[in-house]
Amino acid sequence: MEHSGRLEACRVWAFLCLALLPGLVHCSEKNHKYEDREKVNLWVNKVGPYNNPQETYNYYYLPFCKRHPALKAQHSWGGLGEVLQGNELINSQLDIVYKGNTTGADICSLTLDERKAKVFEDAIRRQYWFELFVDDLPVWGFVGELKKDDAGVERAYIYTSKRFDISYNKDRIIQVNLTTADPVLVAVGAKLNFRYTVNWIPSKTPFSRRFERYLDYTFFEHKIHWFSLVNSFMMVLFLTGLVAIILMRTLRKDYARYARSAADALDAESLESDFSEESGWKLVHGDVFRPPRHLTLLAASVGTGVQLVFLCTAVIVLTIAGSYFEERGTILTCFIIAYAFTSFIGGYVSGGLYARHEGRQWIRTMLMTASLFPGLCFAIAFGLNTIAIFYHSLAAVPFGYIMAVLLLWGFISFPLCLIGTVIGRNWNSIPNYPCRVKRIPSPIPDKHWYLRPWAICMAGGLLPFGSIFIEMYFVFTSFWNYKVYYIYGFLLLVVLILLVVTVCVTIVGTYFLLNAENYHWQWTAFGMSASTSFYVFLYSVHYFLFKTKMTGLFQTCFYFGYTSMFCLGLALLCGAVGYMAAAAFVRTIYRNVKCD
Ligand SMILES: *[C@@H]1O[C@H](CO)[C@@H](O)[C@H](O)[C@H]1NC(C)=O
Ligand SMILES: *[C@@H]1O[C@H](CO)[C@@H](O)[C@H](O)[C@H]1NC(C)=O
Repeated sequence: MEHSGRLEACRVWAFLCLALLPGLVHCSEKNHKYEDREKVNLWVNKVGPYNNPQETYNYYYLPFCKRHPALKAQHSWGGLGEVLQGNELINSQLDIVYKGNTTGADICSLTLDERKAKVFEDAIRRQYWFELFVDDLPVWGFVGELKKDDAGVERAYIYTSKRFDISYNKDRIIQVNLTTADPVLVAVGAKLNFRYTVNWIPSKTPFSRRFERYLDYTFFEHKIHWFSLVNSFMMVLFLTGLVAIILMRTLRKDYARYARSAADALDAESLESDFSEESGWKLVHGDVFRPPRHLTLLAASVGTGVQLVFLCTAVIVLTIAGSYFEERGTILTCFIIAYAFTSFIGGYVSGGLYARHEGRQWIRTMLMTASLFPGLCFAIAFGLNTIAIFYHSLAAVPFGYIMAVLLLWGFISFPLCLIGTVIGRNWNSIPNYPCRVKRIPSPIPDKHWYLRPWAICMAGGLLPFGSIFIEMYFVFTSFWNYKVYYIYGFLLLVVLILLVVTVCVTIVGTYFLLNAENYHWQWTAFGMSASTSFYVFLYSVHYFLFKTKMTGLFQTCFYFGYTSMFCLGLALLCGAVGYMAAAAFVRTIYRNVKCD
């Protein structure tokens, strides 16, 4: 009994490791070195309409014929991230050998029956493109083209020949170009002879620079981009200066006033003036450290948010160091694994926060911390997966990989979160508040609408959003428009700017709120900074409507599904940073007043 259980566990772990590590199918492909006349694999990956980047299908979803239909299809084993991003590499079975020129060799031929003709015609009308890989280098081409005939009617033509121009430097492949040609009219009964040509051309470009051709320098390093970065940076300087000045001067004035009124109170003579004069944040000193409403949710959100701050920084730094954007799916794999391992931080922060407010149900809080972000993302992904299965799309994730992600959560993320919570409760739980909480909550005076929490929350996100929205354009464009995002150094700067702006804005907003004698600052601070993500979501709607040509239920769901996951993460990240800043601020200002 015990033995079989252990065996099962072994199998689970073996699968997990296999799913996470990229496969070791072909050694030459992994070290990218070939001997003369060694076989070079051409992998076919996906096809789909050009305007819908997520609506992709297996290459053989279109009725392309195979070179050796009897042979079992050989798959490349690419790791978790690759599969989650909807890739499935199948060997094309073409006989390409290293440095072996081939001209007009047959792939296969097929005669179009009614169904095949219709499928190809639809695909060409919807601008289907396909993706192939040679030695991990992608090449793209269109399935066919539309041409007007003499009567002015558009007819679909399918390309029947592919030419690969492959340049090599000693024993390594440097560049692959694909040219499609020989269009044939798609009609019932037409016979298609698919052919391919391979030209090997020597090159002097070093292997380390072979990925550069995929990077769109003119797009990403446009003047506007630099300008916006400098702009955001100026904004940061201005804001931090402003915060420093306002707070220093105002707070000093406030302290002086409170000191004066305290002295006056001793005089007993000026009792009336005393009551009329004292107002502002000091009045709520008996309430500011009152536990917030929905403490469990707040602790879980802040814990997850802090975890995401560390996680994102780590992933960006790793990507800068390792140029991971060159490999399919590696960043996603890295993100998922790093999420599991940073769960400790989430648990630590959330456990500490919860314990400081004397929460009693720490197990519930721990469960929520462990599952808040993964659970919501999983729910969205589950919905998208259902749609993808329904469409027979490649974006559907196979069951085994879903299990791998769940196991990763169950065996690594969850225990680490539990350990983090326990340690956080023990080491990070001394309240250490400068003022005691009064027994009876004070009433909150009715203030102007612009001092109400919701107004402060909505206004709070504007500046942080302003500091990142140009970068959002570049991120969205690379994600939805087949561009490789490679400026991770830039992204790191933008993230830092975002964090600084969020901190400044939250501090100012919290000051206003407390001055209006409203002591519900915890959720307001969280909401104020998290609303950045609300604006990003609005921007994404604008982007969808005016900057993309996506159509159909499938792509719309995927667009908004992915955007929601992103905005959710951003909201937690910003909210947690805002909350931490506000908490530090509140503690600092009340430390210097006497809280009788
Ligand atoms: C392959 O053909 C091209 C011209 O089409 C030629 O320049 C190249 O040297 C040939 N390569 C080999 C290895 O023969
Ligand atoms: C591929 O195309 C680019 C741009 O058209 C060209 O500069 C390069 O030399 C081509 N490479 C090969 C191997 O033909």
